[in-house]
Parts: sequence; structure tokens; C-alpha cells
Amino acid sequence: MEERYLTFALGKGRLANKTLETFEKIGITCEEMKDKNTRKLVFVNEELKLRFFLAKGPDVPTYVEYGAADIGIVGRDTILEEGRNIYEVLDLGFGKCRMCICGPKEARDLLQHHELIRVATKYPRIAKDYFYNKKHQTVEIIKLNGSIELAPIVGLSEVICDIVETGSTLRENGLEVLEEVCPLSARMVVNQVSMKMEHDRITRLITDLKTVLASDK
Ligand code: PRP
Repeated sequence: MEERYLTFALGKGRLANKTLETFEKIGITCEEMKDKNTRKLVFVNEELKLRFFLAKGPDVPTYVEYGAADIGIVGRDTILEEGRNIYEVLDLGFGKCRMCICGPKEARDLLQHHELIRVATKYPRIAKDYFYNKKHQTVEIIKLNGSIELAPIVGLSEVICDIVETGSTLRENGLEVLEEVCPLSARMVVNQVSMKMEHDRITRLITDLKTVLASDK
């Protein structure tokens, strides 16, 4: 029987590049994907029977849940925010950053006294879970699509719930980390049916990746 293609959905951008670098170390390559000028969407490695496509980060868990991709590589922030029925099987260790509650230092008090404050974020689900389930603080969550640090500066919200990597965006805008929500990094996710149907291939892939990740440390 002809082996079926194993399909990977990669979150566009930095994560995708790091993912391809890591895959190369276990002998998985996709030459046609390296062409920076290509407008092609789906890339194939005929020999290994693998298919790759790039998608917007938040769409990766969707492709994986529906089985349009067997495997996805995406940030933990996106996995938590999308809340899809998928298996998270491996921490790839790159794309490390933190989800934090940030604001001007004067806002620190507002977090301690359970005040009704406004929280701007690209991640309403993560913010809601943190404030309602962990802190038991009632807040108003305002969904934004980017440049979240603007919100407390121009008076849209008291604090933000956002990703902090180097901390330079905060520093350059007079903001700071007030509380840490959770650590983040790139994760491999798998479709629940694929995990059963392609168990051997996927398990082998996870084992190989674990070996190179351990030797990178
Ligand atoms: C992310 C995040 C912060 C920034 C953190 O934004 O939302 O704004 O990076 O990085 P730093 O701690 O290293 O400064 P991104 O660049 O993805 O763009 P966005 O504002 O459109 O979300």
C-alpha cells in the first residue's frame, strides 16, 4: 500500500524558519520551501512523503483539529488561546517568551486590590482565564489586534496581557511586567485521529526531535 502523505502546518514567520532548521537536523528537508520569492502555498518532499504548508499562527490549531494537517508547529500562546481539540506532544524549546500582565508601575496596586480594571489584549481567552479563574478578579477585557503596548499609554486600558520576549518594547514605552501569566515556547501539536492512524511515523518523529533537542542544550 502506498504510504500516505504526512502533512505539517507551520505558523508563518520566525517559528517556521526555526522549525525547518530543526527538521533538517533529523534529515527532514524541503528544498522548495527555502525559496524566499515563491508564492507557492504547499510544499512537498516526495521521497519522505511529507507535505508542508504555512498558515497564520492562529489558524494552525484549526487545520490540525480538522485533520487538514496531521501535525502543527505553533506557539503555546496560540494553542491556549484557540482551545482546539488537539494533542500537544512536544516542547520544541525555541520561541521562548512569557505571557505577562504589564502596565505602568502605578498599575501594580490595581492588581492587588481586585479593582475593576480594563485589560487590553490579543489573547482574550488567556486573559479571562488568568483574571477570572486564577486571580478571581473581575475585569473588562478589550480585544486588540496588535501594538498592545499602546493601550495603557493612550488610556484605553490600565494594563495589558501580552507576550514579553526581550522586554525592550515595554522598556521603551515606560511599561513593566507586573505579573507573569505563563511561560511560552513553540510546541508540536497533533491531530487526534492522526495520532492513532500514523502512530509509528509520528512517534518516530517525536523521538528523533527529542534527541536533537537534547543535544542542542
Ligand atoms: C510582540 C508582543 C510585544 C513584543 C514583545 O509583538 O506583542 O509587543 O513582541 O517583544 P519584546 O519583549 O522583545 O519587545 P509583535 O512584534 O509580534 O507585534 P504586534 O504588536 O503586532 O503583536
